[in-house]
Amino acid sequence: MKLRYKVAISCASLVAAAAASGLAALRYEAPCTTAPPVPAGTPVMKAVVHRCYGSPDVIAIENVPKPVPADGEVLVKVRAVSVNPLEWHGLRGEPYVMRMTSGIGRPNNVRMGVDFAGTVESVGKDVTRFRVGDDVFGASARNAAFAEYLRIFAEGGVIAPKPSNVSFEQAAAVPIAAFTALQALRDHGRLRSGQKVLINGAGGGVGTFAVQIAKAFGAEVTGVCSTASAELVTRLGADHVIDYSRADFMQQDERYDVIVDMVGGHSPADYRRVLTLAGSLVVVSTVDKGRWLGPLSGMLGAIVYAPFMDQHVATFIAKPNVADLVFLSDLMRTGKVIPAIDRHYAFDDTADAIRYLEQGHAHGKVVVTFAAVGP
Ligand SMILES: NC(=O)c1ccc[n+]([C@@H]2O[C@H](COP(=O)([O-])OP(=O)(O)OC[C@H]3O[C@@H](n4cnc5c(N)ncnc54)[C@H](OP(=O)(O)O)[C@@H]3O)[C@@H](O)[C@H]2O)c1
Repeated sequence: MKLRYKVAISCASLVAAAAASGLAALRYEAPCTTAPPVPAGTPVMKAVVHRCYGSPDVIAIENVPKPVPADGEVLVKVRAVSVNPLEWHGLRGEPYVMRMTSGIGRPNNVRMGVDFAGTVESVGKDVTRFRVGDDVFGASARNAAFAEYLRIFAEGGVIAPKPSNVSFEQAAAVPIAAFTALQALRDHGRLRSGQKVLINGAGGGVGTFAVQIAKAFGAEVTGVCSTASAELVTRLGADHVIDYSRADFMQQDERYDVIVDMVGGHSPADYRRVLTLAGSLVVVSTVDKGRWLGPLSGMLGAIVYAPFMDQHVATFIAKPNVADLVFLSDLMRTGKVIPAIDRHYAFDDTADAIRYLEQGHAHGKVVVTFAAVGP
C-alpha cells in the first residue's frame, strides 16, 4: 500500500476513534456526589439540587448558603416558581449534545430553575430600580430559582415589578413560556393584526400564552391540542380549536399566515400546503425524546429546509430580556394575558412537578409554591 493511503487510513482511524470516545464521553453519567458541608454559622436556605444527571429521583432539597446580594443586585424571597421542559432536559442532561455546555459526566451547575416571582428582601449597593418589599418576577440567568432566595442584578437582570392584578403563582408562570410565545409570534412569525395563525401545541405552557398573545395582536387564532385541553384553549380565546386526536390540520383546506409549531412530526416542506404563499413557519420545538438530539431535531430540520422554501421558515432559542418582561406585564395588567395554571405543587414536591411536566401533556403551566416562606 502506498504511503499516502496508509497516512490517510491512520488519520481516518484517529478521527473515528476520537469521535467514538467523544460520543461515549457525552453519554457517560457519573454517580451523584454528596453535598459539601456548609461552614458552621453560615446562614442557609433550602434549594433544589441535582448532583448528577438522571430522572427526577436524583433531585434533593438541601441546605445551601443563603445568597448575599452583591453591588447592583437584589435578594428576592421566592414565593413561586414555574417548571419548564428546560428543567427536565437539564436534569437528565438530554439531549446529550447539551452536555457540551452543561457538563460532561455530571452537571456543572447543580442548581435548577429559571422562572420566579417573589418579594425583594434586601438590596445591594447602588440599586435604585427596586426597594425592599417590592413584589417582582423574572428569570434567573444563574438557573438558581428553585430555592427560598435568589440574587439577581437589578439592572441587566431579567426582573420587573409584578403586576398587582396577578398572583405570585401566575407571575412565576410567565417568563420562559411567554418569552417564547411572544418572540415566536412577533419576531419570527412577524404576525400582524387580522392574520390567521395556527398554534400547534396550544394546550401547553408556551401554547396557552401564544393563543392569548396572538389574540392580543388581533389575529384569528386556531389552536391544535388534545380533547383534554380543548376547553381551556377555547376559554383562552382561540377562535377555532382542532382536536388532534380527531382531525389533522394538515389535511384541511385552511391556509395560515403564521404557524407556530411546538409539536413537529411533519417536515417543513409538508407545511407548504397549509401556509399562505407569504406565510411563516416558526419551529419552536418537536415532541421527540431521542437522547442525542431530542427536540433539536425539528429545529435542525427547519434550518436545513429554510433555504429551499418559498415561505419564511424560522427556528430560535428564546431570549429572556427585560423589555419583553415589561411588555408581558402590560398584557397582564390590561387583562389581555392571564397565565393558565394547570397544577400547583409544594416546594418539597418539586420532583413531582417535573415528573408531571415531563409526561408532556400539561394543560397550561405547572407551578411550585413556597407556602412555608412568609405570608
Ligand atoms: N425554542 C425555545 O426557545 C423553546 C422555549 C421554550 C420551550 N421550548 C420547547 O417547546 C415545547 C413546548 O414547551 P411547553 O413549555 O409548552 O411544554 P409543555 O407545557 O410540556 O406542553 C407541551 C404540550 O404539547 C402538547 N402536545 C403533545 N403532543 C401533541 C400533539 N401531537 N399535537 C398537539 N399538541 C401536543 C401537549 O398537550 P396535549 O395534552 O393537548 O397533548 C402539551 O400541552 C417543548 O418541547 C419545549 O422544550 C422551546
